[in-house]
Formats: sequence, structure tokens, C-alpha cells
Amino acid sequence: MASSSTSSPPSNLPLKPIPGDYGLPFFGPIKDRLDYFYFQGQDKFFQDRINKHKSTIFKTNMPPGPFIASNPNVIAVLDAVSFPVLFDTSKVEKRNVFVGTFFPSVSFTGGHRVCAYLDPSEPKHSSLKSFILSTLASKHDKFIPLFKTCVSELFIELEDQMAEKGEANYNTLNDTLAFNFFFRLFCDKNPNDTKIASKGPSFANKWLFPQLAPITTLRLPKFLNPLEDLLLHTFPLPFFVAKSDYQKLYDAFNKFSGPILDDAERFGIQRDEACHNLVFLSTFNSYGGLKTGFPALIKWVGLTGEKLHRQLADEIRTVVKAEGGVTFAALERMALTKSVVYEALRIEPPVPFQYGKAKVDMVIHSHDAAYEIKKGNMIFGYQPFATKDPRVFENPEEFVGHRFVGEGEKLLKYVYWSNGRETEDPTAENKQCPAKNLVVLLSRVFLVEFFHRYDTFTVEAGKLLTGSSATIKSLTKATSI
Ligand code: HEM
Repeated sequence: MASSSTSSPPSNLPLKPIPGDYGLPFFGPIKDRLDYFYFQGQDKFFQDRINKHKSTIFKTNMPPGPFIASNPNVIAVLDAVSFPVLFDTSKVEKRNVFVGTFFPSVSFTGGHRVCAYLDPSEPKHSSLKSFILSTLASKHDKFIPLFKTCVSELFIELEDQMAEKGEANYNTLNDTLAFNFFFRLFCDKNPNDTKIASKGPSFANKWLFPQLAPITTLRLPKFLNPLEDLLLHTFPLPFFVAKSDYQKLYDAFNKFSGPILDDAERFGIQRDEACHNLVFLSTFNSYGGLKTGFPALIKWVGLTGEKLHRQLADEIRTVVKAEGGVTFAALERMALTKSVVYEALRIEPPVPFQYGKAKVDMVIHSHDAAYEIKKGNMIFGYQPFATKDPRVFENPEEFVGHRFVGEGEKLLKYVYWSNGRETEDPTAENKQCPAKNLVVLLSRVFLVEFFHRYDTFTVEAGKLLTGSSATIKSLTKATSI
């Protein structure tokens, strides 16, 4: 995509040297890592540097640094104008940068570099992405009915917990929903009827953790910080800690996703490689994405309060009645529900970091200045700062349910959660999430099912290593449907 960030800068913008520095070798990256995890925390880390350099583009180190990442030096792009340079794959290389400046061992993925780690210039990327897009398209008719079934199972468990304990941890319910939905989508089988049983989320978590540990903090008491830094951020955790769990996931997918694996051959992909990709797709991309995305949606909708709940319930019940059910056409007519989903993805994008290495020398610009980037520099975007850019979004820190209704739709081009603009679509040639439309669809269906069944709810929000936590504190069943 030719984005404005990589076009010639408006002539009135001064060309400036990129502010900031990387500090001394070894010590600079360690200092930045400690600031990031322990002394400042994510948001303050970036805000402090924006204030100090009076620029949303600057040099810094990103964790983990020594000894996991050979080069932690990055150029941070933290506004809505410069961020989209990361979507332009003619300008940035996306090879091995899916989780950051380090690349987890290929042992985690059966010895293969899976799709998310490939740059579109690698022929394998196009074959794998086409295979994934085609697999998703072939499952289109199952999306709504299957997700409705999985959500209704979640509601039963939710109500049981509310009755028993007076509150419910939404995150654990959501883990089961996310794992089961994708397993059932790709394998045509309920995991409970396989050897995986109800342990899918636990296998997935144990496999994800060592891959993400270098960029994670467990938020332990302060005196344990040095120990955590040594154990999680200094050396990679070996695959063997997750080996047996991964093998169980692989075996189950290999056994039950036969038709999809057969189809992979059409795209020139061997069965074993296709299966490792499918496990990654279902467990890292899908389960991992929904694990952070849905609790954030519930949190923000819950915190915004009863007035929004009433408006959502009115819209949803009116449209479902008029359309005779939850159909693609019905969902398209729900302007507020759609806007609420986009607003959640804007205010708390589930995958907050994106990386890309400059393929060529280029000039990028923020709102205020232009900067030269050299071939080989690593560009890094912390997405929440781009999608809460105060020069694009009014009251950016506020959850505004109606933000994208009517004229507001014009702002959708600044919603970047899928590693692309919300107005663009994933292709085999770009790096945009192939499930962009599916994720939005599932989020809408979740709200529709929720406000069909309940009038309102309250929530207590917190922080987890994977994003937000949402504890449901009260739940009012629908009085009129
Ligand atoms: C809330 C859920 C999800 C979020 C937030 C999300 C987000 C993202 C993001 C940000 C990227 C780009 C990462 C980068 O290269 O920097 C990405 C890529 C990808 N996502 Fe998603 N995703 C979600 C769900 C899914 C699902 C359900 C699937 C598959 C069924 C999926 C499959 C992929 C794949 C295969 C890629 C790599 C694309 C490529 O190499 O061209 N994602 N996703």
C-alpha cells in the first residue's frame, strides 16, 4: 500500500535528524529494558521519550536486548501519520519480526518458519497466505452458527459462576471460547471429544509463554524483578518446556483437519508444514489474538455503562427481529454495534507492537517534521499511541461508542489493529491479518448474542501479562426481547 507516511513530506515540514540515542552497547539496551518493564512501564516509557525529544519519532532500544536479540536498536514511530510505513512491504521487510527484534526457535513450529514470520518477497509467504485465505473462505458459512453455539456455552458457564460466586472471571471463559471455536472451525470436532478434552487453553498457554516471555512481565513484587529479568529476558526459554503440550496439539490437528491438509497440496505445501502452520494459526494468531481482544472489548463496553448497553440492546433486538435472525446482512445494519467493535480495537489494539526493517533509504514524517531512515534500520510502532493520536481522534483516551457512526466512518482509515488500515483488505502479497473481517464479525456476533440475552452488566478491569482482565460483577438478564 502506498501510504502517506512514505510519500514525499509536505514541503513545509522541516527535515530533522532523528532524536534520541541507543546509549552504550550492552548497557543502553539493559537500561531501556529495565525502564520499560520495571521503572516506567510501557506507556510511560514511550510518553517520557516523546516529551523529552519533543517528537513522536525517535531512537530507542526495545526489549529484550542482550542476549536474546542481537540488535535491539529501533526507530519508534508513535503517531497516526508515520505508523503506516509499517504496512508498506515495498519499504519494510517483515522477515522474522512477528514478535519483535528476536525470533523464537523454529523448534516451536516443527522446524518451519510459519507464515507470520515470512516477508512477502519470500515465495512461501504467498503460498501459505493464499492457503490460509482460501481455508477461511471455505469455512465462511460456519462462522456465525458455530460461534453462536460456542458463545451460548460460554453464557451457561458464566451464569453458573455468577450464581455460585457472585462474579465471573471473563478471561478464563474466553480462553475456552477462543480455543474451542477455532478447533471446531478447522477440525469439525469438539475438542472435548478428543484427547485434548478441556485442556486446549492450558496446552496453548504453555506453548505461547516461552515464545513471548522475552517481551512479557509477570508483574511480580518489586524484589523479584531482577530474578524475572534474568529468567525471562536474558536467555531464550527452550522448546522442551512446551514440547509435550505442543505435540498433543499437533497430533489433534493432524488427525482431525484432514480435508484442510489435503487441500494444502494444491498450494504446493507439504502436509507436515501445513499442519504446523495450522496449529500456529489456531493457537498463536487466533487463540492468542482473541485472548487479548475479547476481554478488552468486554472491559470497555462494561465500563462505559448502562446507557450504551441500552442503546446496543435496542439496536440489536430491533435489527434481529426485522431481519429474522443473526445474518451477515443484519450485522451490516447495526451501525452502533459496528462502531463499538472498531472503537475497542482502536483504544486497545490486541497486538500492540509492529516491526519492520527498512528495505531502502526513505523519508518518513510525523505531524511536525520529516526524518530520514536508512536501509537496515529497524522501525517499530507501538500501536496504541498511533490509534490514540490526539491530532486525529478527539478525546482519544475516552471510549466513545458512536465514534465511527455516520461521518465517523471516515476515521476508519486510522484504525490499524490488523496491521493495515481498516479500509484495506488482506492479500497474499501484504502482511495484513487474513482474519481481519472474521475478527470484526466475531466481535459483532458476540455483542449481538450478549445483548440479546442480557440488558446490562458491570465489570471490574485489571491488567494481566497478556492484556486486560475483565471480571464480571453483575449481570442483568434481558427483560424484553
Ligand atoms: C483478535 C484477533 C487477532 C488479532 C488482533 C490479529 C492481529 C494480527 C496482526 C497485528 C498481524 C500482523 C503482525 C505483524 O506482522 O506485525 C496479524 C497477522 C496474521 N494473523 Fe492475525 N490477528 C487476529 C486473529 C487472527 C486469526 C483468527 C487468524 C487466522 C484464522 C489470524 C491469522 C494471522 C496470520 C496468518 C498472520 C500473518 C499474515 C501474513 O504473514 O501475511 N489472525 N494478525
